[in-house]
Amino acid sequence: MGICLSAQIKAESPSNTGASPKYMSSEANDTQSMGSKGSSVSIRTNPRTEGEILQSPNLKSFSFAEVKSATRNFRPDSVLGEGGFGCVFKGWIDEQSLTASKPGTGMVIAVKRLNQDGWQGHQEWLAEVDYLGKFSHPNLVKLIGYCLEDEQRLLVYEFMPRGSLENHLFRRGSYFEPLSWTLRLKVALGAAKGLAFLHNAETQVIYRDFKTSNILIDSDYNPKLSDFGLAKDGPTGDKSHVSTRIMGTYGYAAPEYLMTGHLTTKSDVYSYGVVLLEILSGRRVVDKNRPPGEQKLVDWAKPLLANKRKIFRVIDNRLQDQYSMEEACKVATLALRCLTTEIKLRPNMTEVVAHLEHIQTLHETGGGRNIDKLERRTRRRSDSVVVSQKPNAGFARQSAVGGIAAAYPRPSASPLFV
Ligand SMILES: Nc1ncnc2c1ncn2[C@@H]1O[C@H](COP(=O)(O)OP(=O)(O)OP(=O)(O)O)[C@@H](O)[C@H]1O
Ligand SMILES: [Mg+2]
Repeated sequence: MGICLSAQIKAESPSNTGASPKYMSSEANDTQSMGSKGSSVSIRTNPRTEGEILQSPNLKSFSFAEVKSATRNFRPDSVLGEGGFGCVFKGWIDEQSLTASKPGTGMVIAVKRLNQDGWQGHQEWLAEVDYLGKFSHPNLVKLIGYCLEDEQRLLVYEFMPRGSLENHLFRRGSYFEPLSWTLRLKVALGAAKGLAFLHNAETQVIYRDFKTSNILIDSDYNPKLSDFGLAKDGPTGDKSHVSTRIMGTYGYAAPEYLMTGHLTTKSDVYSYGVVLLEILSGRRVVDKNRPPGEQKLVDWAKPLLANKRKIFRVIDNRLQDQYSMEEACKVATLALRCLTTEIKLRPNMTEVVAHLEHIQTLHETGGGRNIDKLERRTRRRSDSVVVSQKPNAGFARQSAVGGIAAAYPRPSASPLFV
């Protein structure tokens, strides 16, 4: 879920657009626009009212006392993580009645408690209730209910025992083993299916905040998208895009969206390409601990991925020989296609799903095929240039999932300046 703190933006901005800072139009002015040549007609979308959203038959309205009791008064040692809007706590409820149960009994839940009650916080909270209250899909996290009482705004989710993809890719420690190639393909495919579902919904939805911390993992490593605070209904009729205030997380937002504020499903496809690259490389989209030429993952990796002999320099060396040359090339090509600046050349998410299914089949049928000698030599050379990730003084976070404290730089969703 996003945050609206300009101090944080300035502190974390990698300024990778090269353009001068500029603040874009207000969210309240979101419109849909005609064709690629401009916005000759602007039509305000017609969203459900707050009352209608809160009446979703799929969601329970919790009292604050109930949530407090389920989380044992928001005990600090049950914090699962912290995002821009507040902490996420572990709790327990009875599976049938959905009332608070004794810790360790019934169903485990994750409770997100917003620590801000400003207009923006409420809008994002409501967007989450709206979208997750009406959608159900194996690759979207399940929202069980919400609490709206006085200034309190909370969200009650199913608990995702393996935390976020971000933890699995970037945290070092005994709890988080490096994800295998097989699991990386599984997570990449499931997350792609989640986005494809949103893009193909009757009223198309643009997710707008696709990143590793918003992909949660269940006990079987099924990925589920969470955080619909920035999601938007897509354009309808013959409109090509919706115009929005530029919101998102640095490094993940598509270049054309940063420049124009025009949002399309292809903006999500670009963000998907960034995440696919992070999955492939085990590197963060922006990492100030790397040598200067390697700090911006996309800029560094794109030319290497375009050269078959250099692909191994990008691939996470912890994967060793779990994949074949063919699979690696196909994933690299797919990532490059998603990241192209030419919007029309980006695949849609249905195509991405089809490609990944093909790669997964290739992997399963080729099953651990040994890589040839040339590949081994190329890879050994590439291993020597991979710089290990060092923690730095960034955002310190404590996870109750692994009980490990980790410090690392970590951008959060915010209004973006271009
Ligand atoms: N349903 C859940 N089950 C288990 N852990 C969760 C769940 N929801 C969130 N978390 C944990 O809490 C952390 C914080 O989540 P949150 O969505 O608030 O912030 P974020 O995604 O990390 O950052 P941002 O504010 O940019 O969205 C997640 O990274 C994850 O580790
Ligand atoms: Mg999140």
